[in-house]
Amino acid sequence: FKLNGREVDAAARPFDTLADVVRACGFTGTKIGCEAGDCGACTVLMDGKPVYACLVSAAQSRGADVQTIEASSSDPLAARLVDAFVAHGAAQCGICTPGMIGAALGLLKRSESPSDEDIEIAIGGVLCRCTGYRKILDAVASVARGVDIAIPAAGGLVGERAANATARLAACGAATFGADDAPAGALSVRVIRSPHAHARFTFGDLEAFRREHGLDAVLTAADVPGANSFGIFPNTKDQPVFAEAHVRYRGEAVAAIVGTEEAVHSINADAFPVSWMPLTPLIGVDAALGDGAAAIHAHIPDNVLTRGNLRCGDVGAGHDAAAVTVEGAFETSFVEHAYIEPEAGFAVATEDGMQIAACTQAPYMDREDVARVLGVPEAAVRITPTACGGGFGGKLDVSVQPILAVALKKVGRPVRIVYSRIESMASSTKRHPAKIRAKASADAEGRLVAYEMTGDFNTGAYASWGPTVANRVPIHAHGPYRVPNVWNRTRAVFTNEPPSGAFRGFGIPQAAIANECLMDDLAAQLGLDRWAIRRINALGNGDTTASGQVLLRSAGLPQCLDALKPAWDKALADAASHNATDDRVKRGAGIACMWYGCGNTALPNPSEMRVTLARDGLVTVWSGAVDIGQGVSTILAQIVRSALAIDGTRVALCDTVGDTGTTLDAGKTSASRQTFVSGNAARLAALNLRAKLERDANAPAGAPMRFIDGAIVVGANGERRVPLDAVLEGFGRYDPETTKLDENGQGIPYASYGFAAQIAEVEVDTALGTTRVLHIHAAHDVGRAINPMQVEGQIHGGIAQGLGLALMEEFIPGRTENLHDYLIPTAGDIPPVTTHIIEDADPAGPFGAKGVGEPALIATAPAILSAIRHATGVTMRRVPVLPHRLWEALQAKKRPT
Ligand code: FES
Repeated sequence: FKLNGREVDAAARPFDTLADVVRACGFTGTKIGCEAGDCGACTVLMDGKPVYACLVSAAQSRGADVQTIEASSSDPLAARLVDAFVAHGAAQCGICTPGMIGAALGLLKRSESPSDEDIEIAIGGVLCRCTGYRKILDAVASVARGVDIAIPAAGGLVGERAANATARLAACGAATFGADDAPAGALSVRVIRSPHAHARFTFGDLEAFRREHGLDAVLTAADVPGANSFGIFPNTKDQPVFAEAHVRYRGEAVAAIVGTEEAVHSINADAFPVSWMPLTPLIGVDAALGDGAAAIHAHIPDNVLTRGNLRCGDVGAGHDAAAVTVEGAFETSFVEHAYIEPEAGFAVATEDGMQIAACTQAPYMDREDVARVLGVPEAAVRITPTACGGGFGGKLDVSVQPILAVALKKVGRPVRIVYSRIESMASSTKRHPAKIRAKASADAEGRLVAYEMTGDFNTGAYASWGPTVANRVPIHAHGPYRVPNVWNRTRAVFTNEPPSGAFRGFGIPQAAIANECLMDDLAAQLGLDRWAIRRINALGNGDTTASGQVLLRSAGLPQCLDALKPAWDKALADAASHNATDDRVKRGAGIACMWYGCGNTALPNPSEMRVTLARDGLVTVWSGAVDIGQGVSTILAQIVRSALAIDGTRVALCDTVGDTGTTLDAGKTSASRQTFVSGNAARLAALNLRAKLERDANAPAGAPMRFIDGAIVVGANGERRVPLDAVLEGFGRYDPETTKLDENGQGIPYASYGFAAQIAEVEVDTALGTTRVLHIHAAHDVGRAINPMQVEGQIHGGIAQGLGLALMEEFIPGRTENLHDYLIPTAGDIPPVTTHIIEDADPAGPFGAKGVGEPALIATAPAILSAIRHATGVTMRRVPVLPHRLWEALQAKKRPT
């Protein structure tokens, strides 16, 4: 067949797909996300038409003319699409981008003037989990309309809409993700997993199986040289690399086979010699907490991993004295991260030990766990993150890393692993399902006087980030409001279900659903407008939180609400006017607020950065802060450029961000901390480097500087010259100021908080129970937008995930372990988004900035629920609001009580 204009004669096995073949030919810009035609990441052009390369057999492509993303260098239309994606900020992690461009290219090659709807349909078969699609639609439309594409200049200062540092690489298909590279001759590893949620097991003759199938090794717990366990906290390393005789959730690893790709993947997993003795699983927190429930871990007899608590004032007295009290019970489901890149990587021996290249959000934590599993010092393990095709918290836990390490140790040859989509979804962590009861009281003017909640969070079979969720939720659960009397209690509860871990918001999205519903209840009881009750209670500068922390600065919720007021009034009027003429399709407007503490909860949270200045004027940011698509690399470069302020220099990131061999520990990419914490560390590193130059030049702080011909020229008139005889280095470390919390959750849990308010406008077909979101208005206080384009991108992406949480996403082990049964929003589901960036600068943040990654998601689901209630009069307290659930609630409302 013809591949990117050249005749290719490729060998293929009978069941190889076109995706397999083009990747084997070295064109790894064609990504594989599902192997089932669900995600569209492998979209290429075949004879000019877009196809899912994973659904085209190699034989079908014989004689065809195939074009992959790599042809964008020679196809002017494809090149314009690449430019447009970069210019519009339409590529975040970039794993979907080649497929998106393939789909768009197919449309533009057959239609000269496609409509917006044509574009939406054309890319509707390609999933993106990062961007929320709006910038992708804009990018394709700009090419379709022949609009001049203004690509932001490379680099950029703080406040500028600089292009994402890695977007072009990803858009051209040149970014190297976990499955895109491995040493020549690497053996393949395939994991054998439990089909049961709870079982005991024994192995048969593994050596005979190995020989029969020509494998290099069969790995079990007996092959783990160090501790057969990993986990997030020193006292919760409870998850085995390979289970030992007992599995606690469906999808748990019990063994792995190692061999050539042909040998490993030709084996029917059912033939593996293991005998299962299924046990009754504990499904859901009620079962795990029930009388006589078996202990999932022997050392925790009541199945309660941890408890969280926040208490201030006298909540009972507050309720008693209130004018109005409301309460309710709420329930949320498992939610899957659904990053488009399944986990993948390779391991190879080095002089000092081994190197593991894998997609990750936390290389230094990976190193710690891998070293522990191997029983070696951390210095013997080097983690080199690959490009990360989305994470959202799901790649904070190790996945492939310890398995690769054990495999390399056993066979002494490079090894690689690529999870299948089903394997990824079955084995990885999820958002905690929550069962929440909450009660809120207000005085006659609508001022909150008391709030109380209890929440059980299903943490699944292993601890993962359960303690973080249980401890973070009580601090935030009463919302971003002034409440004098609060008592919030949480439990993280073990069950025989997938481990729940970190997922954008760490439990706050679940708590916000309950809290914001009760705010609407209070407004209804008091006859107050829903915007007004939030504005009355909104935390602002000078207010004290329920943790006893005085918010001295950057509490911008009142400004967020004020920014949304015109849109709120219009949305209410539009809904009223529509509903006056339509009895079946009802419109509604909803509103919700949120707050989110940036970084770890009352724990040390440092980041360290190094910045170097070479003799050729190249400034390198040696960053350990992994960019998972949220754009931290771009942000750090902007911060360094602005802090260093030396004209004529170029600022670039080091080759492998997060390489534990060359960068310092910047901490994990989570909790919306990298801009705030690592941004500060980078700023301090740049200032440290600058201070050395100022000292050498005997110049005052802030003196103008310029790089000219191997030297830094200092002073307004170039009075002094500092020759760059050697590489200069600056170092920065930042650890936000927090305090430990006492037994009532009192103290300073976070140095900085993000605030936001969002409005959702929806349309409900009351005959079908379907909900369509028409518009989202989002106002976010980000302190200072280091890069407004990226801030918008984070907000769009968070809203898309919040919409999924509200309306469609429900992970059910064994039933929705793929992307056709587990639905995430497509381009057709995401409405227009109007973004208001509020900049109430935080003096503690770098140039005033704070995090936005998680705040972007939290208010969306409760705003949509509020809008559904406004449209229909039905209060939904369980998410997702699937059509059958809403339909049943609408029928129940019609029935006489
Ligand atoms: Fe689309 Fe990450 S940019 S999945």
